[in-house]
Amino acid sequence: MSKLPIAVIGAGLIGRTHIERAMTSDRVRLVAIADPTPVAAELARAAGVPCHADYRAMLAEAKPQGVVVATPNVTHADITVACLAAGAAVIVEKPIADTLEDGRRICAASEAAGLPVLVGHQRRHNPIMRKARAIVASGVLGRPVSATVLCTWLKPRDYFDVGWRRRQGGGPILINLIHDIDLMRHLYGEIESVQAMASNAVRGFEVEDTAVVALRFRNGALGTVTVSDTAAAPWNWDLGAGEAERFPRQDINAHFYSGTEGSLTLPRLEVWRYRSDQGPAQGWHDPLTMERTAVHTGCPYAEQLRHFAAVVAGEEAPVCSALDGYRTLEATLAVTQAATSAQPVTLGA
Ligand SMILES: NC(=O)c1ccc[n+]([C@@H]2O[C@H](COP(=O)([O-])OP(=O)(O)OC[C@H]3O[C@@H](n4cnc5c(N)ncnc54)[C@H](O)[C@@H]3O)[C@@H](O)[C@H]2O)c1
Repeated sequence: MSKLPIAVIGAGLIGRTHIERAMTSDRVRLVAIADPTPVAAELARAAGVPCHADYRAMLAEAKPQGVVVATPNVTHADITVACLAAGAAVIVEKPIADTLEDGRRICAASEAAGLPVLVGHQRRHNPIMRKARAIVASGVLGRPVSATVLCTWLKPRDYFDVGWRRRQGGGPILINLIHDIDLMRHLYGEIESVQAMASNAVRGFEVEDTAVVALRFRNGALGTVTVSDTAAAPWNWDLGAGEAERFPRQDINAHFYSGTEGSLTLPRLEVWRYRSDQGPAQGWHDPLTMERTAVHTGCPYAEQLRHFAAVVAGEEAPVCSALDGYRTLEATLAVTQAATSAQPVTLGA
């Protein structure tokens, strides 16, 4: 099978992960990197591909059929639209953009070009999430009632040496919570409305260090999320799911989904329910059983690239389309809006 020729624009922290995964992929072939830094040039040398300071020159010369856009959020829309105009399908890192207007621009350009744009919510490609989605879709939880999510951990002091991380938009709502909201949407569907409170009381930066969120889903379920990057706590998907080697893995749950018939915890993949072979359950006096599924491990970034090639080849439908990424951004920006205004925000209004 011929490999999809791809380029990576932005060879920073996450761009490097995409480059490494592309080098060992059997579905994509790295043909170029675009990033003006000397570090990127060195990475390209090591990978044996050309490095361009200007991504437009790269698009014209390397003519990739797919591009991974891993540059700062504010640049996502311009770069993604230029890639589409050059005939390349795109994976754009999350968030799809930093404004709804730019998110819509990407969706419209993808539609107009007839080329897919996938958004890099890589957790959807984790085998744990695949199994979780199958469990929820099987109906074993019954009617969805609630989703309770924790995204709490401690970012080290030097993380905040970078100026933008201390200012609005650089905090845990847009950087971390967006991933959890995306998982909640992936399992429970669209969010109808959002209420929230945010605080910067511990670090005292312009940006929030902690927020609590209440959500109403269109399926009727309610959800809550606590996010904090100043809490010495392990209850966080990234610490529990083992997706990135840089985090020591904790054997914890961070997501709890409950329905009228059963409950699901993640990332430990435990299903709690009353067993019918123990007689008809009346409720809390009866014994609950727990069944845990162990899944094979798999790198979500590698799987995302494989899926990208399969989508471009017309073999698979996008797991996270531009519109999906846009809806996740809309819900996440609504958290900041609700916290600032102290008013509920209705989505799509
Ligand atoms: N999915 C994930 O797990 C994950 C993790 C981290 C970051 N991200 C997202 O990835 C994106 C990049 O984040 P990062 O932490 O890697 O940032 P970073 O600052 O480490 O890297 C960004 C790179 O983009 C380059 N760049 C900037 N403008 C450019 C341009 N016009 N053309 C070419 N290169 C350009 C910079 O030189 C830099 O090397 C952000 O959108 C972020 O939200 C996603």
